Amino acid sequence: MATSALIVPHHIAIVMDGNGRWAKKRFLPRIAGHKQGVDALSDCVKSCLERGVHVLTVFAFSSENWNRPSDEVSGLMDLLVLALAKQVPRLNANGVQLHFIGDRQRLSERVQAGLLKAEFNTAGNHRLIFNVCFNYGGRWDIAQAAQTLASRGEAITEQSLDRAMALAHVSDPDLLIRTGGELRISNFMLWQAAYSELYFSDRLWPEFDDAALDEAIASYSARERRFGKTSAQLGTPHKLSTENAA
Ligand code: IPE
Ligand code: IPE
Ligand code: MG
Repeated sequence: MATSALIVPHHIAIVMDGNGRWAKKRFLPRIAGHKQGVDALSDCVKSCLERGVHVLTVFAFSSENWNRPSDEVSGLMDLLVLALAKQVPRLNANGVQLHFIGDRQRLSERVQAGLLKAEFNTAGNHRLIFNVCFNYGGRWDIAQAAQTLASRGEAITEQSLDRAMALAHVSDPDLLIRTGGELRISNFMLWQAAYSELYFSDRLWPEFDDAALDEAIASYSARERRFGKTSAQLGTPHKLSTENAA
């Protein structure tokens, strides 16, 4: 029986959910789950490199996550700074270009400086574009894009808004994964996910390993993306995707 070739998504986006529950199951503090989540993310970057994914965008801290207990919020800020110090040399060695997406104004000077330094140090890499959404919300992004256009006196169209979005440097996600069993978007990529293939996994983020990623990619690969057309109008499935865009 002939098997069709696997189609690897150009851009994978992930809502990394379930760190807290992973820790709770082990009677550990929630921050231990977040630490394990950083290790899972490090493995996921490696897997994406090995599979030829070009863009990886992850949701690390939402606009709404400020509403968590203050010790968890400050723990997440500390973890971000620590993770950068540990991971940036490795990202550099692997050709990964890092971008932080979100509203930086509310972040401390220490965190803001860490983000800028990591972006600067990885700017020359081109194997994988890795966007970390931190203090990010899809609504924030649409509003900031509209504000940018308004301040320049530019007309608001789909194209101009798209160019003013914080993720304008990459094409829209082809595959959007959410781990942790919840069936919702939680304010992630509201604009860019218009035609993303959605994949929900019951695995908690720290347990989302290579095999789980491969299952998600296989599910994506088997789908027909129609972008509003009929099946009969399509040539090869996926041909209409933005696979060759930046
Ligand atoms: C996702 O894991 C990470 C962040 C939101 C920072 P959670 O912390 O939401 O984990 P659960 O959903 O409580 O298990
Ligand atoms: C979404 O997870 C945000 C991140 C993964 C960073 P949440 O755990 O915050 O989402 P809700 O509150 O369950 O919708
Ligand atoms: Mg959660």
